[in-house]
Amino acid sequence: MAAGRHLPGLLLVYLVMSAVFSTAYRSSEEKYSVCNTRCCKVEPNCSAALHVACRCHFAKRVVLRDGDFPPSVETIYFYGVRNLTITENALLNLPSLTRVELRQIEWMKVLSNGLALNSNSSLAFLAIDSVRDMKLEADAFSGHWDTEAKLRIGYVSSLVLSQNTFSFQSSPHIPSLVIEHATLRDIEPMAFNASLEFLTLKDVEIKMCRRNGFGGSIQALSMDRVDLNELREGCINGSGSLRRLSVSNSRLGVIRNRGICGSIPTVTIRNCSVSLLQPNGLQLRTAKLDIYSSKFTSIMTRGLNVLANQIYLRKMVVDTLHGHALKALRTTENENDSPSIHILNLTVQHTYNGSLAFDPETNVEVVHLSVDVWEPQVCPLERWVRQLTDTSEKAPLGPTQKQMQTQLRRHWLCKEPSSTTPAAAGAKDGGGESAEQDPHATGDNSTCDDQAGSGGKKDR
Ligand SMILES: *[C@@H]1O[C@H](CO)[C@@H](O)[C@H](O)[C@H]1NC(C)=O
Ligand SMILES: *[C@@H]1O[C@H](CO)[C@@H](O)[C@H](O)[C@H]1NC(C)=O
Ligand SMILES: *[C@@H]1O[C@H](CO)[C@@H](O)[C@H](O)[C@H]1NC(C)=O
Ligand SMILES: *[C@@H]1O[C@H](CO)[C@@H](O)[C@H](O)[C@H]1NC(C)=O
Ligand SMILES: *[C@@H]1O[C@H](CO)[C@@H](O)[C@H](O)[C@H]1NC(C)=O
Ligand SMILES: *[C@@H]1O[C@H](CO)[C@@H](O)[C@H](O)[C@H]1NC(C)=O
Ligand SMILES: *[C@@H]1O[C@H](CO)[C@@H](O)[C@H](O)[C@H]1NC(C)=O
Ligand SMILES: *[C@@H]1O[C@H](CO)[C@@H](O)[C@H](O)[C@H]1NC(C)=O
Ligand SMILES: *[C@@H]1O[C@H](CO)[C@@H](O)[C@H](O)[C@H]1NC(C)=O
Repeated sequence: MAAGRHLPGLLLVYLVMSAVFSTAYRSSEEKYSVCNTRCCKVEPNCSAALHVACRCHFAKRVVLRDGDFPPSVETIYFYGVRNLTITENALLNLPSLTRVELRQIEWMKVLSNGLALNSNSSLAFLAIDSVRDMKLEADAFSGHWDTEAKLRIGYVSSLVLSQNTFSFQSSPHIPSLVIEHATLRDIEPMAFNASLEFLTLKDVEIKMCRRNGFGGSIQALSMDRVDLNELREGCINGSGSLRRLSVSNSRLGVIRNRGICGSIPTVTIRNCSVSLLQPNGLQLRTAKLDIYSSKFTSIMTRGLNVLANQIYLRKMVVDTLHGHALKALRTTENENDSPSIHILNLTVQHTYNGSLAFDPETNVEVVHLSVDVWEPQVCPLERWVRQLTDTSEKAPLGPTQKQMQTQLRRHWLCKEPSSTTPAAAGAKDGGGESAEQDPHATGDNSTCDDQAGSGGKKDR
């Protein structure tokens, strides 16, 4: 209703009338309020409406109610709404509805059951996009969602979810929900208490996630370019239906005790930065944990408490790796004796006694290890390796420790006056062979040199 064109006296009446998406305006032929709204186009006509498109140029406050749309409607588009409220069952009795787009909205609120659907609903796509402030109340998305419905919420400057915001049932197919380019304060417990096959967060900023923040029955949780400042205990809990967790290109601030916990078959962390991983921050049972190209400022004792079939830590950079930070990485039995923890290219800036200690039952492969050299140096090298790996002076070094010893060798480290051999001129990293002339040496030189050769820095 283009209010500006009317006389002042009428204007007031008009504003009052249009303040509510009025049902008082019904006439016999046009009893659906959307048909009486100037900014809306209803095609082909109101009684046989298929498409409703409203371009309201931010002039309107719109309240959507049950009965506002003709039941034959298939698509609903709203663009440019100043203030949009969706009240209970607004889309409930629209069995032909397949597509809804709500875009460019300044202020929006979905009340409880505002977006409730029936089991006979055909809704396949709902997009809400470019919203300044959006509040979704408990049970905003409820009822029964079906037919692989896709649900997309994007470009929201301030998004507020409530406990149980997404609470719909769905079968046989489970819809997917994407939230992108949004800023949220908190993830309330059970905000996503719906049977979702995929929950994808992209370019999302979240201050804090509490217990069961991602609880409910999500099967796959994927975060890309997410900034999640704090994961409290139970934020991501795999004890329910979660089968896959994938976090990429993201920043996770503090992961508190059991911030990510439970049983999740596949866990992938790629190109992420984590500020602080507290003890048991990752307390997981998983088939495969893969941390790739990620940076941790600090990993505390037992920070990675993971039982897995396979663990890959590749291109991982850690500023402070506390003693026994990795000792709670364990793998399930495998028949052949091949390693099931693979640490490839690990760089640590600050290590302590036991920083590189592993569970003695576990077979670990270590390739390309680079750690800070302690000040003062601990010599001979083997003694340093024993301290780093928490191996007693008497016990023989295991294969993992020997691999580390090879890789920690520097030509200048623990150099003894007499030690000059031709090999020293060769490889930069692996060449410092003769550092090893201490009484405890148990290693076989050729093995070490081979490993140094393949393990030294190659051009890539
Ligand atoms: C509305 O459109 C339908 C389909 O085009 C047509 O059959 C019907 O007569 C129209 N009704 C009115 C009131 O114009
Ligand atoms: C939008 O309308 C609701 C009432 O439906 C009101 O409570 C709210 O303050 C309005 N928001 C703005 C920004 O005008
Ligand atoms: C859709 O289902 C609801 C109840 O779930 C029922 O009341 C309604 O009549 C059904 N509509 C159609 C068109 O089948
Ligand atoms: C989650 O949904 C289930 C039913 O699907 C309900 O029983 C439970 O109360 C909900 N949890 C919360 C916290 O609302
Ligand atoms: C994870 O979920 C399970 C099952 O719902 C629950 O028993 C457990 O306490 C939860 N763990 C945390 C840390 O919240
Ligand atoms: C890694 O993530 C950062 C954001 O944290 C991003 O800027 C960068 O492009 C990503 N790198 C790759 C290779 O994807
Ligand atoms: C190992 O990681 C470091 C730091 O991320 C990087 O500079 C180096 O190129 C990597 N080396 C290999 C062989 O991947
Ligand atoms: C580290 O271990 C060595 C040898 O076991 C011990 O002498 C030293 O005191 C330990 N350092 C710390 C800070 O515990
Ligand atoms: C290891 O190297 C030392 C010194 O170069 C040499 O005396 C010793 O025989 C070598 N041991 C083996 C097993 O090759």
